Amino acid sequence: MKHIPPTPLTVFSAPVAAELTAYRKLFESVLHHDEHILGEALAHIRQRQGKMMRPILVLLMAREAGGVTDKALTAAVALELLHTASLVHDDVVDESALRRGLPSVNQKYGNKVAVLLGDYLLSLLLGMAAETQDSRIVERIAKLGGTLSEGEIIQLGSSRKDVPDEAAYLRIISHKTAALFSTCAELGALAAGADDQFTARARQYGELIGMCFQIRDDIFDFYDDKAIGKPTGNDLREGKFTLPVIRALRTTPSPTLQPAIARVQTGSATAEDIDSLVRHTKEHGGIDYARSQMEKYRDEAISIARSFHNDEVRQALIAYAEYVAAREV
Ligand code: IPE
Ligand code: IPE
Ligand code: MG
Ligand code: MG
Repeated sequence: MKHIPPTPLTVFSAPVAAELTAYRKLFESVLHHDEHILGEALAHIRQRQGKMMRPILVLLMAREAGGVTDKALTAAVALELLHTASLVHDDVVDESALRRGLPSVNQKYGNKVAVLLGDYLLSLLLGMAAETQDSRIVERIAKLGGTLSEGEIIQLGSSRKDVPDEAAYLRIISHKTAALFSTCAELGALAAGADDQFTARARQYGELIGMCFQIRDDIFDFYDDKAIGKPTGNDLREGKFTLPVIRALRTTPSPTLQPAIARVQTGSATAEDIDSLVRHTKEHGGIDYARSQMEKYRDEAISIARSFHNDEVRQALIAYAEYVAAREV
């Protein structure tokens, strides 16, 4: 398989470098509070901004659609706040202790603070959405918040009865991850006044990127890697069957793995259970299959990006898709 070296973030953010600086200032400016626990937890979040994949996508689409306005910057902040809130809550749900190379909020301050901080971030993003004074943007963000929660909740119930099939998996990741990327692309376009046809294409690019992004994330979970800045091996432990293992179990069922599968479903899998499922997945082509599906999404996204007019943005959105599939963090 051809290995594409990860593209540094700077390559695809170059066309919007100045706007990204303005975005960061605005994002950081809202993450403050006088109340001490809240202020401390917000300061903890401010320490690491993550890869900023979603705001970069908003800004690039706005640029392609006519230019980055204040409305696009405000929408980018609102969407990254929603992403941040979803990670804070996700780490509670997944009982995950590490995020962006630092202790997760739940690890550092406990579940109660993490739940409330996530809620606080949601209220901040509502304010940002309102500031755009564009009811379409507010409406899209409201709908998106619901879709992300639906994805996480569907996932929670998905493995209780049976190992989910591939269609169920794809539906979950479309809700919990791809919807955010597609709304980022859509709102970048809308904020720049794009027509319906361009907005639909932008959405589609974002959706494909999001599918690719989550499959890459789910492949990470099958390897030990300290550089990623969050725990690996967590998905099965938390009862989550993802594409690699779903594929291997469907194409090569194994009666001897049944007890391990049953324990994953009830959240009581042992380290040996997880080891044997990971081994089965790798030996029976689960990872290779997931990679090939991920590359299909990437290639479809690239073919949409090729139709964009601005040379710099087109190159950036091609590099962005390549990065999402090849990234190591
Ligand atoms: C993590 O997203 C959540 C997933 C959709 C897998 P990122 O990997 O973009 O997180 P940060 O913002 O860069 O930390
Ligand atoms: C990512 O789910 C989607 C959301 C955060 C809503 P994961 O649980 O796979 O994300 P990581 O691996 O914890 O970042
Ligand atoms: Mg998680
Ligand atoms: Mg994950």
